[in-house]
Amino acid sequence: MLKIGIVGCGAIGSFITKKVVDGTIKNAKISAIYDRNSDKAEKLSKMNKAKICSSVDELVKEDLDLVVEAASIRAVEEVAEKSLKNKKDVLIMSVGALADKNLFLKLQNLAKSVGRKIYLPSGAIGGLDAVKAMRLGKIEEVILKTTKPVNALEDALKNLGYNTEDIKEPVVVFEGDVFKAIKEFPANINVSVTLSIAAEFPAKVMIVADPKAKLNRHEVIVKSSIGKLKVCVENVPFEENPKTSALAAYSAVRLIRDLAESVKVGT
Ligand SMILES: NC(=O)c1ccc[n+]([C@@H]2O[C@H](COP(=O)([O-])OP(=O)(O)OC[C@H]3O[C@@H](n4cnc5c(N)ncnc54)[C@H](O)[C@@H]3O)[C@@H](O)[C@H]2O)c1
Repeated sequence: MLKIGIVGCGAIGSFITKKVVDGTIKNAKISAIYDRNSDKAEKLSKMNKAKICSSVDELVKEDLDLVVEAASIRAVEEVAEKSLKNKKDVLIMSVGALADKNLFLKLQNLAKSVGRKIYLPSGAIGGLDAVKAMRLGKIEEVILKTTKPVNALEDALKNLGYNTEDIKEPVVVFEGDVFKAIKEFPANINVSVTLSIAAEFPAKVMIVADPKAKLNRHEVIVKSSIGKLKVCVENVPFEENPKTSALAAYSAVRLIRDLAESVKVGT
């Protein structure tokens, strides 16, 4: 029985819980949950019998095999470090935090030293299996072109000084490297960091705000000595949180479910 702790009881944390409860993730249980917003934790606890913890410190001391971070970029360092130090594997959803190379290396070394794993789900994009294989050749260019409905980008656009009501046509709201992309769009472009980690090569990112779009569209282009990859996914946004694509939550569910599978498909 895989014992799971969840930090962040929002759209993704709740979805993973639902999929444990309905048996999609077999032989697992949600043992402990924590959210800084206690109402969210209370609501989620109605779905199962998980213990509600009042801090990350309390949660990581529980009898758990895996801690899922589904909270925010700011939560990653504390959740991952404390989970690993308490000999728990950790699944990180807010992968954008790992654009900070020092944090990435610190967590990677810590995981090695305690013999635990850090899992980064492929999130809302496709093609990481091929990108990882291509990495064994020479990567020449990595590009992510993302188009989202304006409401999915709203918080970041407001911070950047856009009046979102004035956006009547598709507008390129960002063009630059992965490091700047995740700083300016911290809740929207985690996948650019996942892609860059898989390729071990910094992605060039373009973000388009499209007032007519209904779906979150991610186009991944990777050029390498082994070949060229072009993958496009058009994702349904989560009703509870339009910034998040349903596929991102499904990818986490699939990753957890696969931990127990005896046949591994894909790289
Ligand atoms: N890797 C990917 O492809 C991908 C895709 C979508 C979302 N995400 C990221 O996953 C995370 C969760 O997404 P979501 O859609 O479930 O978000 P959400 O806003 O629906 O839920 C986040 C929950 O975490 C809680 N929270 C925030 N900071 C916290 C902290 N420091 N400690 C404890 N609880 C905290 C919030 O109160 C909220 O209930 C976000 O960081 C999001 O950007 C990643």
